[in-house]
Amino acid sequence: MADPLADIQEILFTEEQITRRVRDLAGAISRDYAGRAPLLVSVLKGAVYFLTDLTRALAVPVEIDFMAITTYGGAKVQSGVVRLIKDLDVEITGRDVVLVEDIIDTGLTAGYLLRLLQARAPASLRICTLLDRPYRRILETLEIAYRGFEVPDRFLVGYGLDYRERYRHLPFIGVLKNEVLAVAAASPPAGSGAASPSAAEPPGASGPAARAKDAPPDAGAPDP
Ligand code: IMP
Ligand code: MG
Repeated sequence: MADPLADIQEILFTEEQITRRVRDLAGAISRDYAGRAPLLVSVLKGAVYFLTDLTRALAVPVEIDFMAITTYGGAKVQSGVVRLIKDLDVEITGRDVVLVEDIIDTGLTAGYLLRLLQARAPASLRICTLLDRPYRRILETLEIAYRGFEVPDRFLVGYGLDYRERYRHLPFIGVLKNEVLAVAAASPPAGSGAASPSAAEPPGASGPAARAKDAPPDAGAPDP
């Protein structure tokens, strides 16, 4: 495999910038939840990097738990219809729950998860997202209690964010070169399909907010 760094057009947030911002967010959460022990809930896999760093910077005791979801039949996440393929291990009734996300784009995934969690009657429920891309927001009522960075309408990888399962391990958050998206769109990876929607759709690849002219019209289903 080629050097993943060669596929990055620009670094948006360095490891140091991310670390500092994660500490800020952890400070805010620690103040707000003083004397309590919130349950941090994440969706596999993108938010895992952020979640684990966040917990290590918190001053309150926390528990973590995970869900996994997939889009129906490889359908675009724009439908907001996702299928739960792994539920939480613990009951959340009466608990203070924080949904920890890597990036909120249309907001449909977070909206679906919030409804699902809210139905279980937690004591409180808030969203913490490292990245917020408000430009393509469909669910406009989404309230974000903790937000790391607002990001532009570019396709990002690193620090958990992937493109077709690659680049998650990069310690920074960067913009993926348009050529990479274009090439990948022309040759779908083996194993892609309804059962494993591993390719994230680049923002702007469809819809009125289309920005990346070179982005493939259909790079596959997003990996939430
Ligand atoms: P949405 O808010 O329902 O549109 O979906 C958010 C999910 O889409 C995130 O959890 C990511 O998995 C994925 N996603 C959105 N934008 C990007 C990006 O720029 N890079 C990688 N994944 C992304
Ligand atoms: Mg994700």
